Amino acid sequence: MGAPVSQPREFELTDKDFARIQAILKQRSGIDVGEGKRLLVYGRLARRLRALGLRGFKEYLELIEDPSGGEAKEFLNALTTNVTEFFRESHHFDFLRERVIPESLAFHGEPRLRIWSSACSTGEEPHSIAMTLMRAGILDSWDARILATDIDSDVLRHAQRGVYSEDKVKKLKPEWLKYFLKGQGSQRGSVRVKPELQEIITFRELNLLGQWPLRGPFDLIFCRNVVIYFDIPTRESLVKRFVSLLRPGGYLFMGHSESLAAGSSRELEPCGKTAYRKRSDGANGG
Ligand SMILES: C[S@@+](CC[C@H](N)C(=O)[O-])C[C@H]1O[C@@H](n2cnc3c(N)ncnc32)[C@H](O)[C@@H]1O
Repeated sequence: MGAPVSQPREFELTDKDFARIQAILKQRSGIDVGEGKRLLVYGRLARRLRALGLRGFKEYLELIEDPSGGEAKEFLNALTTNVTEFFRESHHFDFLRERVIPESLAFHGEPRLRIWSSACSTGEEPHSIAMTLMRAGILDSWDARILATDIDSDVLRHAQRGVYSEDKVKKLKPEWLKYFLKGQGSQRGSVRVKPELQEIITFRELNLLGQWPLRGPFDLIFCRNVVIYFDIPTRESLVKRFVSLLRPGGYLFMGHSESLAAGSSRELEPCGKTAYRKRSDGANGG
């Protein structure tokens, strides 16, 4: 520690200012950045300082101290990591088709499905869910809804547009390409998700650490590749909240490096690779 990382950088980032940035970020989003992420934080926020014409991090901190100030949102948007892709961890989409769809029909006694993509980033995850439903032939005939939320308003705007560079779809299996429009209806060099897929998705800004104005219950919740940024107590309290919004027998999907520690929720049982099922014996996570 000691020497500021900024020498001879454009802006000075002292230990004290970095510690304050870490604390504000963790308190407002749960994202826990360690010393190892200092250069990354510097790089992302230096862009904000330049855009705002500020002289240093002290001035920037004054702008973000007020959680309702305009820069507070930009601060969070700058520090979230939004890496995602279509059909990431594809085993979850197979599980959705093979297990969740038929079990939901049996549970509800009618063709109904409620899915929450709780850290949806630029939308590849909820769009992959919608494509899975369409391919399973249930998109039109079922009462199926997907709620897609994220804390980052920039990625949500992108998700809502549903326009992606051709590079993003080039590795997809050919059978999925028919769910995108190329040329007409999209910009040059990009593709657009077909509007009928988007019709069943509601995009909304939601901080996983804040209030959830959601009724549930959900048949399936995706919470993938986000709790990796949170500390253990935050992860554990989130899992409890997810459980309380799942129907009995509903599923929670986590990211590949986020498997739940044994006993982290008595109401969940492991069910294949990073998939967890809420027990149907009446226990409720509260
Ligand atoms: C790496 S992306 C994962 C996207 C997708 N779930 C996947 O697995 O491909 C993580 C997302 O979590 C979001 N995020 C981080 N903290 C959050 C919070 N407190 N509430 C809601 N979303 C959050 C970020 O904005 C980012 O878009």
